[in-house]
Amino acid sequence: MRLRFLRNYGLSPAKISEPVCAVVFLLITCVVGCSDRTRHNRTEPSSENKSDQEVVQIALRTRDTVRADASKKQEEPWPHSPQYHRNDGYVGSAACKECHADEFSSWHSSYHSSMTQIADRSTVIPAIQGLDLEYQSRRGQLEWQGDELWATVTDPEGNESKSRVALTTGSHHAQAFWYETGESNVVQMFPFAYRIAEQRWIPVQTAFLLPPRVEQSFSFAPGVWNHSCSQCHATSTKPAVSSATEMQTSVADFGIACESCHGPGANHIEAAGRNAENINPGIVNPELLHPKRSSEVCGQCHAAISLSTQEQTDDWLQHGWRYRPGEELEKSKNVGQPKDSENDSFDTSIFWNDGVVRVSGREFNGLLKSPCYDHDGQHGQIMTCTSCHEMHPESSNPNDLASWSHHQLKPGMRGNAACTQCHREYQDEKSLVAHTHHLADSSGSDCMNCHMPYTTYGLLKASRSHAIESPSVATTLEVGRPNGCNMCHLDKSLGWTADYLKQWYDISSPELPEDEREICFTILSALKGNAIQRALAAWALGWPEAQKVSTTDWSIPFLGFLLQDNYHAVRFIADRSLRSLSEPMEIQYDSLATKADRDQAARAIVQQWLRNKENRPTTGEPYLINPLGQPMIGAINQLLKQRDTQEIVIGE
Ligand code: HEC
Ligand code: HEC
Ligand code: HEC
Ligand code: HEC
Ligand code: HEC
Ligand code: HEC
Ligand code: HEC
Ligand code: HEC
Repeated sequence: MRLRFLRNYGLSPAKISEPVCAVVFLLITCVVGCSDRTRHNRTEPSSENKSDQEVVQIALRTRDTVRADASKKQEEPWPHSPQYHRNDGYVGSAACKECHADEFSSWHSSYHSSMTQIADRSTVIPAIQGLDLEYQSRRGQLEWQGDELWATVTDPEGNESKSRVALTTGSHHAQAFWYETGESNVVQMFPFAYRIAEQRWIPVQTAFLLPPRVEQSFSFAPGVWNHSCSQCHATSTKPAVSSATEMQTSVADFGIACESCHGPGANHIEAAGRNAENINPGIVNPELLHPKRSSEVCGQCHAAISLSTQEQTDDWLQHGWRYRPGEELEKSKNVGQPKDSENDSFDTSIFWNDGVVRVSGREFNGLLKSPCYDHDGQHGQIMTCTSCHEMHPESSNPNDLASWSHHQLKPGMRGNAACTQCHREYQDEKSLVAHTHHLADSSGSDCMNCHMPYTTYGLLKASRSHAIESPSVATTLEVGRPNGCNMCHLDKSLGWTADYLKQWYDISSPELPEDEREICFTILSALKGNAIQRALAAWALGWPEAQKVSTTDWSIPFLGFLLQDNYHAVRFIADRSLRSLSEPMEIQYDSLATKADRDQAARAIVQQWLRNKENRPTTGEPYLINPLGQPMIGAINQLLKQRDTQEIVIGE
């Protein structure tokens, strides 16, 4: 039996001693949607089964509670791990604290600060007590030995190695772990990562959108940190790679610290210390830069970056990036935008066919495609990241640091002020309503819901596209990217949207195939869409704004298909959305169980839904549900046959 990640999440009970088992069990039982209506019990019934009340009461362990609880902090990197350097004028964030206490404190509460951390009691988020995980014949164990976290990793050939965990990645959605290999300071990824909100471990390869073929062939050593993730997850990384096993990697800071955005600080501190006339040599304030230079400060990481030449690659592998804040980014980094030439083979799976990026975390690529950015500035300001985000909240920001740190937005920037700060013509209610054709306080009058819909994918969720565009049926049809209207009106077809775009905005529609005129767009995406389209459809079905305006009682059989998807990411998202529906359901489903178990659980969910079919308000062709309340199997099978099965590999 190769698939051990079964109902009990791969925790092989035989390998876990009794008391530990109880603890681990508690941690994994409360997953998303753990509430009274979606009661589920995914583990084997056992006497250790705690009452639901107790389970719900277990506090979510987050970065801040872990930080507060920790008795001790490891100040210096572990010996066989990347070390600190103080080269090229970099001094590290601690040197800025004394004179900039406020900025230090807001930065410290940002997720930037904790992106990469030295693994210790104050940084490791999951509670670990004799953890033992197994998936597809790969096994990983973690245990604390005093204040050191140790990993034992067994490869498919049965070779076991034990070493200290040196670094952690992430502290917001997920956390991954890197252990010392003992070879110079190469650190390698632990094969399982922890999802923070869901409080569960998943094999790292299942965190990405990968076809099963790629997921299964995922190499046992998923990666080396020193020259890959370190590009964007640390400050002034110098990989110093001599060979696959010989690296003397160093960083100015683990995590995204002051000098990533402000440039190296040595000269500034020296000048400030002696009260020089110009105290800012080399220090950059992104807000005072030209908007394009300013957004490039963020774009150095929030973009698809490629290296064009072998020379560039070798240079990066030795010295790290040459880019410094304030400079022109393209001089030293190639921001991957699919070029017009057919030869350009930049990883196309992360872009829609029209060159709009479809992976989150690459917002700068989106900005480059926005009309608000890509113009000469004659008609107004140029949009930049700090039009909406702020990296240190101003005193006028009413949010406390903890809530600000989620998305790091200026006050009001979740709402229409983000746009009307420039597009003043829509500031007053009358012109807003005239433009949106929705009530003023409707989610359908929120600029971003139409112009920045959730059409980028990453971290097992959908995110707002940062490529500003208007809803367009033609684009949806040609490129496959959902439009804002259909991302919210889940129970409507593309044809419905086309009719209203014509009526309201005089936009003429392209010729639509009959299915697109008749059947809900979300259903078509779920059945015949490609993996990204299915992931976005699965996500939209769980989006509260969409659930409020759309009927969703028809959606369960289609979520049932998505629960059987061959991409884990799609199954994971569908599971989360299913649990967010108001329909009372008994859900015994695990997106990582064997195919047979998953499919059986998905069918059981659809069976339950069939049994509740009285009072089914939505039947008819648009929902592919016949008047008896049963799915129209023939039509559904037809659409499944048309599915776009192109392999999509999004390794983020
Ligand atoms: C010895 C005190 C001192 C230290 C240490 C120090 N600064 Fe400053 N910094 C100042 C003073 C003084 C100013 C000018 C007044 C102000 O803006 O607060 C300043 C201004 C700045 C500005 C605004 C520049 C502008 O043009 O608007 C930035 C950004 C900055 N510092 C970043 C840093 C960073 C990053 C570090 C650590 C690498 C650092 N500072 C360390 C004293 C210091
Ligand atoms: C080109 C820059 C870049 C590279 C290279 C990169 N990342 Fe990231 N990563 C980001 C950005 C930007 C985000 C934030 C995305 C967001 O919040 O939507 C992020 C977020 C993450 C997160 C979520 C963090 C959290 O707190 O939840 C994880 C986990 C992660 N990356 C893992 C990796 C791993 C592992 C690698 C190397 C194999 C890697 N990344 C390489 C830019 C990068
Ligand atoms: C992710 C990028 C980023 C990081 C990391 C960062 N800053 Fe900033 N900083 C900015 C931006 C952008 C501004 C402009 C104002 C804003 O957005 O809040 C700024 C503004 C400042 C200013 C000027 C404030 C003013 O009132 O003019 C100082 C000083 C400063 N930062 C210091 C620091 C220090 C010290 C750290 C580390 C402890 C740090 N920053 C980390 C991006 C960053
Ligand atoms: C050195 C690389 C780097 C730079 C420079 C950088 N970021 Fe980030 N940013 C990241 C990574 C990595 C994450 C993921 C952190 C996490 O979520 O744990 C992130 C996360 C974020 C988030 C999401 C925070 C959350 O989790 O809710 C925002 C918003 C953001 N960055 C905006 C900016 C802006 C604006 C700038 C420029 C002023 C900037 N970043 C500069 C790498 C960078
Ligand atoms: C017009 C306003 C606006 C601009 C300009 C903008 N953002 Fe955002 N950004 C937002 C809003 C609003 C959110 C929160 C979205 C949500 O609530 O889901 C966000 C979310 C994010 C996130 C978190 C995404 C996630 O996965 O949850 C990152 C990272 C980010 N922005 C980075 C950037 C970067 C980098 C730039 C510049 C290249 C930028 N943003 C420009 C408004 C903006
Ligand atoms: C910093 C200023 C700024 C911000 C913020 C901004 N825009 Fe723009 N936007 C512009 C400019 C300037 C143009 C170009 C107008 C022109 O060329 O006449 C533009 C163009 C547009 C266009 C295309 C207009 C056309 O004629 O095709 C749309 C749509 C748009 N913006 C929507 C938005 C939305 C929605 C938001 C908020 C999410 C937003 N903008 C935020 C400045 C901004
Ligand atoms: C219900 C969806 C919807 C909402 C909400 C919405 N828009 Fe639009 N907007 C559209 C559509 C559709 C178009 C395209 C019109 C066209 O191509 O003629 C458009 C076009 C635009 C344009 C370019 C043409 C023009 O009218 O100037 C701008 C700028 C714009 N919107 C800004 C905004 C701003 C700012 C907000 C929020 C205050 C907003 N929109 C809210 C659907 C919406
Ligand atoms: C984020 C959600 C959201 C988005 C995006 C959105 N709407 Fe709506 N829509 C609503 C809500 C909520 C209502 C209920 C009435 C109201 O609030 O104005 C509504 C009502 C309607 C109605 C009238 C009721 C009905 O179902 O016939 C139509 C027509 C409509 N929307 C069309 C559109 C079109 C076309 C677009 C894109 C241009 C769009 N909506 C974008 C949320 C949204």
